[in-house]
Amino acid sequence: MIIHILPGAERLGALAARHIEVALLGVRRPVLGVATGSSPEPVYAALADRASAGTFRVDSLRAFALDEYVGLPDDHAERYRNVLLRAFADPLGIDDRSVHVPDGGDADPSAAAEAYERAIHLAGGIDLQLLGIGRNGHIGFNEPGSDFRSLTRVVELADSTRVANARFFADRDEVPRHSISQGLATIMRARAALLIATGAAKAEAVRAALTGPVTTDLPASVLQRHPALSVYLDGEAASALD
Ligand code: F6R
Repeated sequence: MIIHILPGAERLGALAARHIEVALLGVRRPVLGVATGSSPEPVYAALADRASAGTFRVDSLRAFALDEYVGLPDDHAERYRNVLLRAFADPLGIDDRSVHVPDGGDADPSAAAEAYERAIHLAGGIDLQLLGIGRNGHIGFNEPGSDFRSLTRVVELADSTRVANARFFADRDEVPRHSISQGLATIMRARAALLIATGAAKAEAVRAALTGPVTTDLPASVLQRHPALSVYLDGEAASALD
């Protein structure tokens, strides 16, 4: 595990974007695992700059989302497919068809989850998975108690996650109760992982995930077992590390 501590989100975004570019450079048809939420925003902004400058080549890139809410209408602004097109694919000039997201609108979400796991496999697996971390230590929507062997499946969001994500919705009741999330085993199969955290609210989860016991109570702690994990933190998110 390599931990980078940067003075602010902009610098963090710039260095993490360079890391992604270098990591995918030699890969013929790269597969990037993408996260939603606030944490990756500076990284996507910096990747868009690198794509415009022509250093980050996106023509053969395929992206796979970590997760998707179940049951939001197709045109809902917070549907993760729409968030990723807006924040990631469009600014980078990536074709919508190269962005894969679990189908949270499928009448059979469990079947959609299984199909998504197969799609990752058929794409040759994820070369680099971008991750944020929840205050309760979740990665993807693998909430505390999630099995380390879990694959993509329908999960119930923790109340604390629904409260944290209410900021993106008109009110808390609008936050979906379920999502389709890559499992912890799915995430651990990525050939490399890059964890991003910013802000003091993440400091305790970051400390526990990176330096505490590996336990399903803190799902992100499983990343300690990943052979190629890089962590990008701002000073506040790193403030509880020794
Ligand atoms: C998002 C996801 C979540 C977030 C986490 C942190 O696709 O899977 O695990 O990464 O909830 O969210 P932010 O970055 O908004 O604090």
